[in-house]
Amino acid sequence: MARVVIVTGGTRGIGEAISLALKEDGFTVAANYAGNDERAKAFAERTGIAVFKWDVSSPEACAAGVSAVEQGLGPVDAVVNNAGITRDGTLLKMSYDDWKEVIDTNLGGCFNMAKATFAGMKDRKWGRFVNIGSINGQAGQYGQVNYAAAKSGIHGFTKALAQEGARFGITVNAIAPGYIDTDMVAAVPADVLSKIVAKIPVGRLGQAHEIARGVAFLCSDNAAFITGSTLSINGGQHMY
Ligand code: CAA
Repeated sequence: MARVVIVTGGTRGIGEAISLALKEDGFTVAANYAGNDERAKAFAERTGIAVFKWDVSSPEACAAGVSAVEQGLGPVDAVVNNAGITRDGTLLKMSYDDWKEVIDTNLGGCFNMAKATFAGMKDRKWGRFVNIGSINGQAGQYGQVNYAAAKSGIHGFTKALAQEGARFGITVNAIAPGYIDTDMVAAVPADVLSKIVAKIPVGRLGQAHEIARGVAFLCSDNAAFITGSTLSINGGQHMY
């Protein structure tokens, strides 16, 4: 029977490419989304992938969302924690809400999703978590104390949960994307972005499918001996 994977933030940007790659590799995919109903509906019609709406920053919503996926598609074997937001601004201009929303969504979402799915994977002795970190969690980024802290937290979360999951056949890994051609990166002011791109040795933004293939590999049986690791996919911008 096909394995079931949840991709949070799975209907847009990098998440959309991950949902498609995992479907191509034979998973039954549940693509979670939080906001844009119209875009999610169009995604479901175009791809045949089931979509489920909940806010990953809420523990209760994650528990209810996972339960809905399990009722519709079966037990959850893998989770790709991809949902993430930015609220960029220098520290003095950043509000407490900007801080909290980013931490609760980007990092809290990983905790909430693991809480709702880890026990089932443990019982069935197989599981995969792939957490989407960021180059900015590894290197920091001007104007992103919230995002860099959350993404850096994801890398620590990954290494800790990997130690807990190993003896149950559950691997936990992270991918640290660099600057990828998505709406999120397009929102960076053009003059700032061109300076960033100038520092990428490969000389261009990454494409979403270049992240997605890494995720699909980490979710496969072939990656069973890889756990607690971070795969940097950033065009050489930060060699870590
Ligand atoms: N290092 C040092 N100084 C910097 C700097 C940097 N990297 N960037 C800007 N500054 C300086 C500016 O030169 C300016 O100095 P002066 O006042 O002396 O001229 C000062 O800091 C203020 O800069 P801004 O005018 O840019 O400040 P702002 O408040 O208008 O904007 C900002 C701040 C919103 C953070 C803006 O700089 C910005 O959007 N930066 C990009 C942040 C970024 O890369 N976000 C990534 C989003 S995509 C993503 O996160 C995905 C992923 O995982 C990679």
